Amino acid sequence: MMLETNSPLTLAATAFILFLTIPISPSTPLHFNYTSFPDNSTNDFSRSNAYITAGTIQITPDFIPNMSGRICYRKPFRLHKNRGRVKATFTTTFVLQINPKTQPPGEGMAFILAEDPALPENSSGQWLGVVNSITNGSSSRGVVAVEFDTRKSYPEDLDDNHVGLDINGVYSVRQEPLSGFGVNLSASDIVTARVHYDGSNLTVFVSERVVIWESIDLSVHLPEVVHVGFSGSTGRLNAQQNCILSWDFAGLDIGDGWFRSIWVWVLLSIGILGLIFGIVGFIYYQKRRKLGREKTENEGHPSIEEAIQVSSMAPLKFKVKELIDATKNFNHENKLGKGGFGTVYKGNLRNREIAVKRVSKKVTSQVKQAFISEVTTIGNLHHKNLVKLIGWAHEGQEYLLVYEYMPNGSLDKLVFDDDESSSSSSIRWETRLNIVSGVARALEYLHSGCEKRVLHRDIKASNIMLDSEFNAKLGDFGLARTIKQADQTHHSTKNLAGTLGYMAPEIFLTGRATLESDVYAFGILVLEVCCGRRPGGQLDQDGYASRSILNWVWELHGIGKLIDAADCRLKGDFVEEEMGFVLSLGLACCHPDPFKRPTMKNVIQVLGREVAAPELPPERPGFMWPPVGSGSEGAGFLLLGSQVNSFTEITGR
Ligand SMILES: *[C@@H]1O[C@H](CO)[C@@H](O)[C@H](O)[C@H]1NC(C)=O
Ligand SMILES: *[C@@H]1O[C@H](CO)[C@@H](O)[C@H](O)[C@H]1NC(C)=O
Ligand SMILES: *[C@@H]1O[C@H](CO)[C@@H](O)[C@H](O)[C@H]1NC(C)=O
Ligand SMILES: *[C@@H]1O[C@H](CO)[C@@H](O)[C@H](O)[C@H]1NC(C)=O
Ligand SMILES: *[C@@H]1O[C@H](CO)[C@@H](O)[C@H](O)[C@H]1NC(C)=O
Ligand SMILES: *[C@@H]1O[C@H](CO)[C@@H](O)[C@H](O)[C@H]1NC(C)=O
Ligand SMILES: *[C@@H]1O[C@H](CO)[C@@H](O)[C@H](O)[C@H]1NC(C)=O
Repeated sequence: MMLETNSPLTLAATAFILFLTIPISPSTPLHFNYTSFPDNSTNDFSRSNAYITAGTIQITPDFIPNMSGRICYRKPFRLHKNRGRVKATFTTTFVLQINPKTQPPGEGMAFILAEDPALPENSSGQWLGVVNSITNGSSSRGVVAVEFDTRKSYPEDLDDNHVGLDINGVYSVRQEPLSGFGVNLSASDIVTARVHYDGSNLTVFVSERVVIWESIDLSVHLPEVVHVGFSGSTGRLNAQQNCILSWDFAGLDIGDGWFRSIWVWVLLSIGILGLIFGIVGFIYYQKRRKLGREKTENEGHPSIEEAIQVSSMAPLKFKVKELIDATKNFNHENKLGKGGFGTVYKGNLRNREIAVKRVSKKVTSQVKQAFISEVTTIGNLHHKNLVKLIGWAHEGQEYLLVYEYMPNGSLDKLVFDDDESSSSSSIRWETRLNIVSGVARALEYLHSGCEKRVLHRDIKASNIMLDSEFNAKLGDFGLARTIKQADQTHHSTKNLAGTLGYMAPEIFLTGRATLESDVYAFGILVLEVCCGRRPGGQLDQDGYASRSILNWVWELHGIGKLIDAADCRLKGDFVEEEMGFVLSLGLACCHPDPFKRPTMKNVIQVLGREVAAPELPPERPGFMWPPVGSGSEGAGFLLLGSQVNSFTEITGR
């Protein structure tokens, strides 16, 4: 299997094919014209932090200060050859729009011709994603930029509304204010800019008027082959949207010369040599593979950083020090809660309230793997009813996750208000309904709306967080739970994930979490929210098993008094018919037969009153296993206790 991707034979074959194609294919001029851009999945561009939305390029992500981004056309452009004696010419037109997100906005964006399409590290703020403090001003051939600057961030910078021509740095060899051209970059003006290079003069037009005209030989400053694109940045405290609405580029072919025929021979030789080396290497590789099969299996584990950073959309990486400062050294006073193996602290980072989860126990390799998958997978889920993972930090034994802060805490604190005296915190029925719908939408997204299916496996009131407007946000993708599980695999193989009282009956038999068992837990949650009771079925402090909420509601349903289950603290302030169908929905989700439970899609339709609540039999159906007449494959995801290397179970579709 590995042979197909890794073997030297494949490499040799590739080299051979390359030599067959490159010299024969005519050198084509680079020419493209986007009046709007396709979506993120396009292979036309290489992107770092930048993305495409609604047909426009966003060079830097919205609202995030201290960021840089870059997007380049994937095919490179041959700018000159034969040591600069043959030069290309090009004209490119782009329409840009800068939308301020802070006042004043910052920092700016640039059209670039760059040797490396990748974004330099630490290039936020004044560096405009063009260079960083180390590469600024270096004499090596690297990057030429036409900057559109919205912030005067260092003394040589002209003002906060100018165009500049930058060579291998952010220092502008020429800069012109835009105010004289009737353009205010910070006023969301739609600006049409054109850059024209004829081999010896470079001209920048804004709104069809020449802004910069410079006699310059780009071959002195840039390598023969460059990438064209855009970069941009936001500042420490200043942010803006850097958008490109359309872009065309026409680079003229620089013709064929004797030069090319030499390359034919060079490539031909390389191809043949490659093939010979490939065959020799293949034989050697086969031998070595037989010898060291086990050895190789343990090698090549990427570090946490590498594993996370391969994914360019990963959440922000913070420094542990920053988070220590943000939480005042994990001060007790900032503690928001503790669950299993992680403690959550409130913090203040760059004037933004955050919640920091600190893994506080021994870190095993499974925990590391789980941490990586939390950051790369959960970090890429975006839904307004999911708690957002903002970033992460790791150094030494310190593993930290940064989430958005939820001012209203978790749902259990509000719904099961054990303290009878504080009646003020009892929440209204409309709010409760909105919370139930929010959780349903989040779960539906996890089950079928995102790229990979995700099972939450631990839906319960304490994992539902509430934002300032009491919108529900599903959180805690099981960090604490999985760590616990990982630690206990040595002691017990019958290790069930989830929380008692929320676990579907079949889990105890199959040991598997399924989409249906998530629906069951959701059903219990619905009942709790309506009734204001804990799920029950567990032992309380005095050792009495409390009555399970499910039996209780079924009994009330049986005697036709379903509405009596409503939380008395609502004081009857609700629409009876609504209460009735939500309770029925809760019961339906908890059907003992997993295949009779509605899907989350159905649940959303019921909540949206598009379809009626499912019919219920008068008595609670008995539990039978295996379920009678279920033809479905059961959509099993994972056998608990055998695989614990991810926080959240995921399968492809
Ligand atoms: C790009 O396409 C648009 C719309 O088709 C057209 O108006 C524009 O002239 C084209 N630009 C170039 C340089 O061909
Ligand atoms: C591209 O990705 C960004 C960031 O994840 C997202 O906001 C945007 O909606 C995506 N665009 C499309 C067209 O899916
Ligand atoms: C980026 O900055 C961090 C410190 O802020 C430093 O550790 C790292 O080496 C820098 N990277 C580069 C390429 O300058
Ligand atoms: C901004 O980002 C750079 C790395 O790009 C980092 O070194 C610096 O500490 C950050 N500053 C703030 C205020 O977050
Ligand atoms: C970047 O380097 C140039 C020298 O090429 C220097 O003049 C300029 O001050 C530097 N810019 C910053 C912001 O350090
Ligand atoms: C540019 O527009 C911004 C936002 O509308 C405004 O604050 C600023 O004063 C304007 N600048 C000039 C020079 O008019
Ligand atoms: C560049 O500008 C100079 C000065 O105006 C002019 O002499 C020269 O012909 C221009 N070069 C080209 C290729 O047009």
